[in-house]
Amino acid sequence: MASAKVAQESWYDHPRYYDLAFKSETGPEANFVEAACRKYCSFPVRRLLEPACGSGRLVAELAARGYRMTGLDLNQPALKFLRRRLARRGLRADIFLADMADFCLARPVDAAYCTFDSFRHLLSEQAAQQHLECVAASLRPGGVYILGFHLLPPDASEECTERWTERLGCTQVTVTLRVLSSSRRRRLETLRISLLVRRRDRLKRLRDEFPLRLYTAAQFRRLLSKVPRLRLCGVYDFWYDIEHPLKLDNQMSDTVFILQKLTAEGDSPIFAASCRENWDSPRHP
Ligand SMILES: C[S@@+](CC[C@H](N)C(=O)[O-])C[C@H]1O[C@@H](n2cnc3c(N)ncnc32)[C@H](O)[C@@H]1O
Repeated sequence: MASAKVAQESWYDHPRYYDLAFKSETGPEANFVEAACRKYCSFPVRRLLEPACGSGRLVAELAARGYRMTGLDLNQPALKFLRRRLARRGLRADIFLADMADFCLARPVDAAYCTFDSFRHLLSEQAAQQHLECVAASLRPGGVYILGFHLLPPDASEECTERWTERLGCTQVTVTLRVLSSSRRRRLETLRISLLVRRRDRLKRLRDEFPLRLYTAAQFRRLLSKVPRLRLCGVYDFWYDIEHPLKLDNQMSDTVFILQKLTAEGDSPIFAASCRENWDSPRHP
């Protein structure tokens, strides 16, 4: 097989390959979104929002399960791919181009979710806070935001390389993800994504590099305290086991937060019962 030149391009501009790389995660993630809504919302959840929906693997999956979906992203090729995918499957969703730190919806949703580090694309505290404010404004009272991203424990190694392969038909995608540099002081790491695509006897190589914001548990807790309309009511990890909520501590890495919008009475129904248990005391700096 002939070797291919490496193209320096955004991997989000190649939604077909991006999507294939994460296809095994879609079912378990969608199941978790449904389970979390059942557990934490006191009303039937019908309307869902995904900020940074990308190629829309979850938007399409949840639309197929009967939810009314809204998705937004800044990447045009990904949204085009998603619109085509919805049309091909006879599904409907409201999809639009927007910055996840600056959007508003005409009508509130019951719940929202954003997994796999999309949130860490927001590189400043202000953008992250604005994002949480936009989500809070989009949720109905008592609705939840399921937010998944990697935390960096204070004593964890900043180096990291992951590689995995997925196949669909005659296409095989191998992703290598490597942290190139990391600064706890600036709260930034640079990630390199290398994509190797094999299609029959053809090879394609892509490389993309971009920064992500770093969070320890304490840094996220501080951010959350600036958005009082959202309260933490559950913590999980990327095993997505709804039966086993965890306690947030400084050792956690792959973390899924369940944030609930306060009701008009000023408290979330779930928070009163369980939040203080899930939110470890401030003994962690
Ligand atoms: C890791 S992908 C996740 C895509 C999708 N949520 C999924 O799980 O398959 C991150 C997405 O965030 C989008 N993104 C990055 N910064 C954004 C911003 N400020 N506003 C909206 N979308 C953004 C990218 O275009 C990309 O589609």
